[in-house]
Amino acid sequence: MTRMMTTQPNPATVPARPDARPRILTGIRPTGALHVGHYVGALDNWLKLQDRYECYFLIADYQALGDHFHEIDLIRQSVLEVTLDWLAVGLDPEKSAFVIQSYVPEHAELTMLLSFITPLGILERNPTLKAELDALPVERRSVGFYNYPMSQVADILLPRAHLVPVGEDQAPHIEMTREVARKFNRMFGEVFPEPATLIGKVGRLAGTDGQGKMSKSRGNVIMLSDDEKSVNEKVRNMYTDPARVRADIPGKVEGNPVFQYHDAFNPDTAQVEDFKARYRAGKIGDVEVKRALAKALNDFLGPIRERRAHYQQHMGEVEDALMEGTRRARVIAAETMTMVRDAMRISTYTKTWK
Ligand code: TRP
Repeated sequence: MTRMMTTQPNPATVPARPDARPRILTGIRPTGALHVGHYVGALDNWLKLQDRYECYFLIADYQALGDHFHEIDLIRQSVLEVTLDWLAVGLDPEKSAFVIQSYVPEHAELTMLLSFITPLGILERNPTLKAELDALPVERRSVGFYNYPMSQVADILLPRAHLVPVGEDQAPHIEMTREVARKFNRMFGEVFPEPATLIGKVGRLAGTDGQGKMSKSRGNVIMLSDDEKSVNEKVRNMYTDPARVRADIPGKVEGNPVFQYHDAFNPDTAQVEDFKARYRAGKIGDVEVKRALAKALNDFLGPIRERRAHYQQHMGEVEDALMEGTRRARVIAAETMTMVRDAMRISTYTKTWK
């Protein structure tokens, strides 16, 4: 489903490690359970990556404080929901490390140290940050929020990651990470690989109301945890071609969310092509197209729901997955911080006292 494009780091800056597989770090802010857009835009890609790379999947709860510091209950609940969704879609904690950001306090230390070598201008020019700040009410624009790209730089550099799979909107943060890594290495010696961005190509699904932005409050999302009945209901209410008032009028397939979802979730491509041809010709009703879509979505979500239900009954396994992944991340974090303190010659004074 996903093609990828990379910006290459300079291989000379990638230090050799005993595990030959390149390391990946990516993350998500725990501010709600995940929806089918997350699957198409990220998880589908991560599932493929976890076999070929040493993966760290971060639950960025510090970062979630950025615009949800007044909703800590939501963050707490979402740490669990996100983990359940990850397990449900098939991310495997034996292969990949699931990491809770705040359980690795080195994230905070590295964010702080790197902030001293990072020019303010990088944040001032960051287009993603700018847009997000503009969308926030003034009283919610905190110093921590302003600095979140810096903490994301630390998320990536702490495990010394080589690749960061993200959506397009995150690209400025990864570019910033490369700049900070280069500057650190130049000033203090080689510690960090320059990570490459791995952009998922298909990446974007409209809301069920045809709006680009999916949000739970808008009610235009199909959650990975939705049951069959609510999927049927949401698909029945989905927007189609607004100009098509009767089934015998030719309809538009392009930009029509129903067909976008068919392309993403209906494995029967012959059926999808047939629907599109008949839709364009005014020879099929919305109801039939939607019924087939609801079926395709429910077929796709069925196994995901089953695995989710299993883990909800076995919370010990969920906790083990998080604790084991976080433990692995802490080992590398400690290693990196020793390298960083030694390179910067900070908090190492007694080492040279005789
Ligand atoms: N900012 C990312 C998002 O909102 C989440 C994130 C946090 C992340 N830390 C990261 C992504 C590190 C990639 C790498 O989706």
